[in-house]
Amino acid sequence: MKINIGIIGCGYVGLVTAACFAERGYKVLGVDSDAGKIKTLLSGHLPIYEPGLAELVKRNQSRKRLVFSTDIGQAVRFADVIFIAVGTPLGDNGGADLSQVKRVAREVAKNLSSRYKIIAEKSTVPVGTAEQLKTTIRKYAPARAEFDVISNPEFLQEGRAIKTTLYPDRIVVGLETKRAEGVMRKLYASFKAPILITDLESAELIKHAANSFLAMKISYINAIAQICEKSGADVRKVAYGIGLDKRIGREFLRAGIGYGGFCLPKDVSAFVHIAEKLGCKFDLLKAVQSINRDQRQHFIRKIEKACGSVKHKKIAVLGLSFKPDTDDIRESPAFDIIRGLIRKGAIVAAYDPKAINNMKKILPAGKVHYVGNSYQAASGADCLAIITEWDEFKNLDLKRIKRIMKTPLVVDGRNMFDPQMMEKQGFNYLGIGFK
Ligand code: UDX
Repeated sequence: MKINIGIIGCGYVGLVTAACFAERGYKVLGVDSDAGKIKTLLSGHLPIYEPGLAELVKRNQSRKRLVFSTDIGQAVRFADVIFIAVGTPLGDNGGADLSQVKRVAREVAKNLSSRYKIIAEKSTVPVGTAEQLKTTIRKYAPARAEFDVISNPEFLQEGRAIKTTLYPDRIVVGLETKRAEGVMRKLYASFKAPILITDLESAELIKHAANSFLAMKISYINAIAQICEKSGADVRKVAYGIGLDKRIGREFLRAGIGYGGFCLPKDVSAFVHIAEKLGCKFDLLKAVQSINRDQRQHFIRKIEKACGSVKHKKIAVLGLSFKPDTDDIRESPAFDIIRGLIRKGAIVAAYDPKAINNMKKILPAGKVHYVGNSYQAASGADCLAIITEWDEFKNLDLKRIKRIMKTPLVVDGRNMFDPQMMEKQGFNYLGIGFK
């Protein structure tokens, strides 16, 4: 049997998943309710920036393996495995808002038939959601419908989305029947990654537990960074020293201005909410959140201290996206930091290689002076604040930067540069987690 794939939701996860399955040789139909987005995709453009994705989508569109539509019914009729990859944003109560997932589940159900289908949760959802989906789908599906609901959480990283989808560390599939297991093992056979088959609840929980653990590592090293600054130690050496212990590992121990993005902040919050609903306290994760919030303020305090006051001072902000190689500004530390600086009377000139248009939607031009390159931002500035570690910033002409700044002060929220080299170039250079 040749497996056909339907992906409902062409956001970051949906679009990358669709393109990667097509690249592996499957026929994929991607669906989104946003007609504008589908029009953009059909005209050969992408609604987001992700390295390599435009080429991948284009290649598979021209091979006729990847098509797009706004019609969920078409996807259900076409596909053997239907992935639900719509957004699960944070709801008002701090938990995940599942309204899009539920709406899609009802639509999928109405279009089911006696031809067996797998409905796979890709979106990050609270533990127990697959059980609810089963009930909803059974309620809205015709009596003869044959289906399994499974959980297949996504672990892709923005900026490296294709690599982390085609070559994941592991593939987690929560399911209940041998039939579904057979299809999913076949589907992923060419991915050459270990496949972990679990029950539905464990698969759902693995996603929240993994993202929260990553957030915890970042907050842990950021808490250590503050201790380093007070004690004279250097957090980069401490992180290296503890990371060499295989039980700890070196990844996700880069101190800085904390985590942002669409996943980590939302998933930590949702996990606290899930735990509390189940009657479990999760104060550990609340501390993770509080450290992360404070890290942004810590950065502002650092700039303020170095400038005396930021009132009427020009601060050049380099980087707006929550991390490099993406135009995604959701929950980016840049937003809180720029807003905090403006509230204190600073004049902010900001540059980012890809994310300016997105940031303009939430911090309009006028409040912030958006400029076309790093040098325009730095010109006449009292301080250069580095927020995102884009490669482009590593290659700046530092001599020129120093010459055009009013005061050669660099406050680096990502520890991009070697402090000794920066001092040698004549900068007053402050990073995170060392003196
Ligand atoms: C994350 C998870 O890594 C991924 O598995 C999941 O599927 C989605 O959420 P992503 O949001 O793309 O991926 O970003 P990630 O690379 O995890 O970085 C998150 C944030 O943490 C960024 O703001 C990054 O700058 C920050 N970070 C990361 C640190 O501050 N220090 C680190 O050591 C690592």
